[in-house]
Amino acid sequence: MSDLMDRLNATPVVPLIAATDANTGVKTARALVEGGLTVLEIVLRTPASMEALQAICEQVPEAISGAGTVLTAAQAEETVKRGAQFIVSPGLTEGVVKTAQANDVPILAGIATATELQQAYNYDLRTVKFFPAGLAGGPKMLKAFSSVFQGVKFMPTGGVSAANLGDYLANPAVLACGGSWLTPADAIASGDYAAVTKLAKEAVAIAKQARA
Ligand code: 3PG
Repeated sequence: MSDLMDRLNATPVVPLIAATDANTGVKTARALVEGGLTVLEIVLRTPASMEALQAICEQVPEAISGAGTVLTAAQAEETVKRGAQFIVSPGLTEGVVKTAQANDVPILAGIATATELQQAYNYDLRTVKFFPAGLAGGPKMLKAFSSVFQGVKFMPTGGVSAANLGDYLANPAVLACGGSWLTPADAIASGDYAAVTKLAKEAVAIAKQARA
């Protein structure tokens, strides 16, 4: 966990990659790394996602790459075999959490209520995903959570963008923000990886300012 935490403390932004194929995934990952973002979440939402995860883990070793949208224990197990260095899930389920813990892989399970957060706390999780952040109450909800669940760190994801990234990062309990705004499907489909690098650089600059 400490490598991941160190990396996120330095640059608290996690771009999502929904790769249509492994090669595109690797190119997207490289464009993000070039822009200064080196913690990458490859989401299991396309038929090629497992293959893309493995390719990125092997071919972009300068990044810490994890699997996102992990819904089942079996998927969690496979992502670890493919090289995932962390696991993210939209919700909180025992199977996914225990599989990650058994493999000694950091798990960011999703919570949106105090009850779910307390459940996560009782699974010994001290870092959780807050999802869907915008719809579940945004920075104000996080402030309420973080004043009660002291020592817990959050990764808000869902509705985060360059416009509100600074608002989330203003809360020191926010470990990092995740989002797909950094990897627009139209830019990637047209091979415009420079656009991805530009968005990454913009996010790095916002994060620097928010954490200065
Ligand atoms: C997630 O997987 O966390 C969300 O779908 C990301 O939400 P976004 O597309 O609003 O960034």
